[in-house]
Amino acid sequence: MKKVLTYGTFDMLHPGHINLLRRAKEYGNYVIVGLSSDEFNAQKGKTSYYTYEERKHVLEAVRYVDEVIKEENWDQKVIDVQHHNVDTFVMGDDWKGKFDFLKPYCHVVYLPRTEGISTTKIKTDLKSK
Ligand code: CTP
Repeated sequence: MKKVLTYGTFDMLHPGHINLLRRAKEYGNYVIVGLSSDEFNAQKGKTSYYTYEERKHVLEAVRYVDEVIKEENWDQKVIDVQHHNVDTFVMGDDWKGKFDFLKPYCHVVYLPRTEGISTTKIKTDLKSK
């Protein structure tokens, strides 16, 4: 079993998220998503449209996702990698270099983001209509 781990908020699931998850799955056969909790988002000054439980529900229906775990703080990644025997850590390249501290524990891959789409952009575009 080759396990892949990625993190994010995945609010208002859009094609950029799906592309990231599809490519994550290409690195293994079991994809775990560390989904940020509502409390962790609040700490970051972010409010998601959908609650944690709603975002989890949606992600669990995606064919590339095998398991959803909760992301509650910045410091849990090493523990998650070890606890889940993760082979490859994947993030979009907006995070390039930020998670290199995981390299002693697993492969670290930054994938190019899908151009021109984000949850923030959807929210902004809808407001201006
Ligand atoms: N992602 C991506 N391409 C996009 C948007 C997101 O590859 N166009 C990736 C991010 O790099 C991250 C994962 O999807 O690895 C989850 O990103 P998240 O921050 O939840 O999505 P965004 O749409 O960027 O959200 P926001 O606008 O709130 O920052």
